[in-house]
Amino acid sequence: MASGPIPQAGHPASPAHGPSTYAGHAPTMHPAPVLSARGLVKTYGSTGAETRALDGVDLDIARADSLAVMGPSGCGKTTLLHILAGILTPTSGTVHHDGTELAALGDRARTRLRRSDFGFVFQDGQLLPELTALENVILPRMLAGVPRRKATAEAASWLDRLGLQGMHERRPTQLSGGQAQRVAIARALAGRPSVVFADEPTGALDQTTGQTVLQILVESCRETGASLVMVTHDAKVAAACRRTVAMRDGRIAQEFVRPEESSAVAR
Ligand SMILES: Nc1ncnc2c1ncn2[C@@H]1O[C@H](COP(=O)(O)OP(=O)(O)O)[C@@H](O)[C@H]1O
Ligand SMILES: [Mg+2]
Repeated sequence: MASGPIPQAGHPASPAHGPSTYAGHAPTMHPAPVLSARGLVKTYGSTGAETRALDGVDLDIARADSLAVMGPSGCGKTTLLHILAGILTPTSGTVHHDGTELAALGDRARTRLRRSDFGFVFQDGQLLPELTALENVILPRMLAGVPRRKATAEAASWLDRLGLQGMHERRPTQLSGGQAQRVAIARALAGRPSVVFADEPTGALDQTTGQTVLQILVESCRETGASLVMVTHDAKVAAACRRTVAMRDGRIAQEFVRPEESSAVAR
C-alpha cells in the first residue's frame, strides 16, 4: 500500500472551511494552535549516505483536535511524531508548543515539558514489565513531581475509568494486549496532557480489540480536551480522527478533514 488518495469517506480540506494548517492561511480569529511546526527537515546518517526522513513539513495542531498521520512505511511518520514531541531535534525547522520553541528549551526543560504536557501511547504499550498496572500509571506522575498519594488516587481512578477494575495489581504479562494498551492510555492521560501522541496504538491488536482501544483513546482525549496526534497506516484507524494528513517521502502530500457527523467513533 503506497501512494494514492486516502480511501475513505469525507471531503478534501478546503482553505475556506478547513482548519488552519499553514500560517499564511490561518484566519486571525482561530485560537493559537497547541503545536506549530514550520519547515521541518530531518536527515539521518552522514553526508553522502544520508536519509532525508522529513523534507519540509509545516503543520499546526489545534487544541482538542484529533489528527491522524498516515502514509507508507518509511515516509517519516514516526520521525515527525518524535520531533513534534521534542524527543528528536529537527535538522532544521521549528516546533512551537504554546508559543515556546522546543529547541530553545534546554534538555531538562524539554523533558519536564514532555512529562507535564504530553502523553504517549506506543504500538506495544511499552509498559515496564516489573511494575504493576497501577505502578506503571503512577511512575510518570511521580517523575513529574506529583506526590505519591495523589498520583496513586489519580492512577486508580483512570484505570477504573478505562474498565480495568480489579486489575491494578497485575503485571503486564498478566494482561491481554488490549488491557495493556488501556493501561498505556491511562498512563498517557493521567497527567492531563495538552497533547497525546500515539504511534500505531492498535498495530499489535486484533481488529475488534483494536477498535475498542481506539475508541477509548479518542474518547478519553476528547473528554479531557487533549489533542491527539496518531500515526497509523490503517485508514480505518485514521477515520477515528477529525483530520488526516497523508505523508509521502518526508512531506505532507495530502490533507483531509472529516465532516463532524461521519466520525467512525460514536460520541
Ligand atoms: N535512527 C535512524 N537512523 C537512520 N535512519 C532512520 C532512523 N529512523 C528512521 N530512519 C529512516 O528515516 C525514514 C523515515 O523513518 P520513519 O520516520 O520511522 O518512518 P515511518 O514511521 O513512516 O515508517 C526511513 O527511511 C527510515 O529508514
Ligand atoms: Mg513508524
